[in-house]
Amino acid sequence: MCGIVGYIGDNPAYEILIKGLHRLEYRGYDSAGVAMVNGKGDLNVYKTRGKVDDLERFCQSKDIEGCVGIAHTRWATHGEPNDVNAHPHISRSGRIALVHNGTIENYGVLKEALELQGCTFQSETDTEVLVKLIEYIKETNDCSLVEAVREALKEVVGAYAIAVIDTEDPDTIIGARKSSPLVIGIGNGETFLASDATPIIEYTDKVVYLNDDEIAIIRRGEPLKIITTDNESAKIDIQTLKLSVSQLEKGGFPHFMLKEIFEQPRTIRDCVRGRIGNTGSAVTLSGVIEHADKFLAARRIIIVACGTSWHAGLIGKRLIEEAARIPVEVAYASEFRYSNPIVTPEDIVIAISQSGETADTLAAIQIARKRGAFVYGVCNVVGSSIARATDSGTYIHVGPEIGVASTKAFTGQVTVLTMLALAIGQLRHTIREEDVAKTVEALRNLPELIKKTLKLNDKIEHLSGIFTYAHNFLYLGRGYNFPSALEGALKLKEISYIHAEGYPAAEMKHGPIALIDRELPTVFIAPNDDLHEKIISNIQQVKARGGAVIAVVTKGDTTIAEIADHIIEIPEVPEAVSPIIVSIPLQLLAYHIAVKKGCNVDMPRNLAKSVTVE
Ligand code: AGP
Ligand code: GLU
Repeated sequence: MCGIVGYIGDNPAYEILIKGLHRLEYRGYDSAGVAMVNGKGDLNVYKTRGKVDDLERFCQSKDIEGCVGIAHTRWATHGEPNDVNAHPHISRSGRIALVHNGTIENYGVLKEALELQGCTFQSETDTEVLVKLIEYIKETNDCSLVEAVREALKEVVGAYAIAVIDTEDPDTIIGARKSSPLVIGIGNGETFLASDATPIIEYTDKVVYLNDDEIAIIRRGEPLKIITTDNESAKIDIQTLKLSVSQLEKGGFPHFMLKEIFEQPRTIRDCVRGRIGNTGSAVTLSGVIEHADKFLAARRIIIVACGTSWHAGLIGKRLIEEAARIPVEVAYASEFRYSNPIVTPEDIVIAISQSGETADTLAAIQIARKRGAFVYGVCNVVGSSIARATDSGTYIHVGPEIGVASTKAFTGQVTVLTMLALAIGQLRHTIREEDVAKTVEALRNLPELIKKTLKLNDKIEHLSGIFTYAHNFLYLGRGYNFPSALEGALKLKEISYIHAEGYPAAEMKHGPIALIDRELPTVFIAPNDDLHEKIISNIQQVKARGGAVIAVVTKGDTTIAEIADHIIEIPEVPEAVSPIIVSIPLQLLAYHIAVKKGCNVDMPRNLAKSVTVE
């Protein structure tokens, strides 16, 4: 998620906070804000939708005095980007300010309980609930700020990194984390707080990385203290930073793309958080619940998208048709918009877009709405044009994707589409509960399975060296993994500039097999599934013509190991979620080949992260 900066010391906080927010801009955000306590004990909060520069303009001629403060760049998850939803959020009395990264799953329940106590809310965010809960506990229990924070966090379900200041305790900043990162910089008579070390490194190289369920108590003139949410003392492990700012921005990875590939265990966890439980088979998508009538009455679903999102849509088609028994069509948005499409009020159109700003997809939505369809969005950017143009939707919650080549957004999209298929199938009673439970359990296990699959990185880096100078690639897959073949080919061509084509494996004999020779590597996506035997014969056809074969197989597949030139073994997963696991080695293969070719992996030539023009 996004950015936090905090400072307490003898220098003016404002300059340090703003500079720190600029350091965090690379993470992508939609709003920014600061809060300082001045020498008179006043809390001044300034926040605005837009960039840090906009915030600086907003703060001109304002009281920005004070040597203690917190600041935030927001990546909206609850409530669209606007001035009111921006952070810091303040308590009812106006004495406590809080900034937050992450999502509070049970904010609705907490908000209702506070409203029953007379609490009112100005924003739509989950964060505002937390700061008001902290003050409610502080006043009700007549306790310290840190005790109130600790008690409040024990009631929170979800992910957070927070920083809190209080005019009644102006020489203190409280920091805490669970799932979202938070780093403390130990200066000389001053202390820094940030989401990563980039805002800290120019002041000190001594840092403490907070662990989950830990609370940092930062008091002016006193040594750092860390406790747990269970009020136990925690060990303080001071480390010395050795990375440059640029390396820190990428979390120590050489490129944003590799960082985002390795974020996928966490981003899948964030994607399903609050939507599937730790047990059972319930799938809770508010967009489906609130519009159950539309999903019950729908006679057809049309998916519109571009690029990688279109590939996710092809997988979504298989998932939804299997679970909900509704015919699903998948259209390139750019084709759909000019095809005088047949769309009726009995249709649901699903628009998939990471950026939420793709012009062709936006245009397709407007045509679909004009013709009476109910439009459902699957987006990553809260409050984006596409998110606001749809009737409802589900955010994928994978955080800002900086690398132009989509990786974590793709797996987030497929994860949401899997949950969407299950939710519609449950609503229409077209899927057996045991089948739902099996897929939900697979989604629950995905983060660990992805973590295991990422261990292939070194092997794939080595393998990439063999194929760096290929001029063409074929990617072949069947069933759920035909779209995986298309996506694997796109990943390779868009960052390494090697021509690559994805095809249904059985289609090979209808033309592409003429391409096979020693110069043309073929990647087969061949996990254990109903079509496994069929794909073995496809591999044999390629081998018989001297083609080199790289096969992505289920761990322990000795049959294909005997005929393929190189195998990449992935964990056993149910077919329906196999594209998510399959995409990991294909992302890594494309990445390492492109790096070995000296390509600009994060910003490939001719490409933009968001195609906002036709
Ligand atoms: C995929 O790696 C590319 N970045 C591109 O194909 C992208 O998926 C396409 O432009 C659609 O973007 P969107 O998801 O933001 O709408
Ligand atoms: N969930 C909070 C909000 O939507 C914080 C989002 C973030 O991590 O920036 O405001």
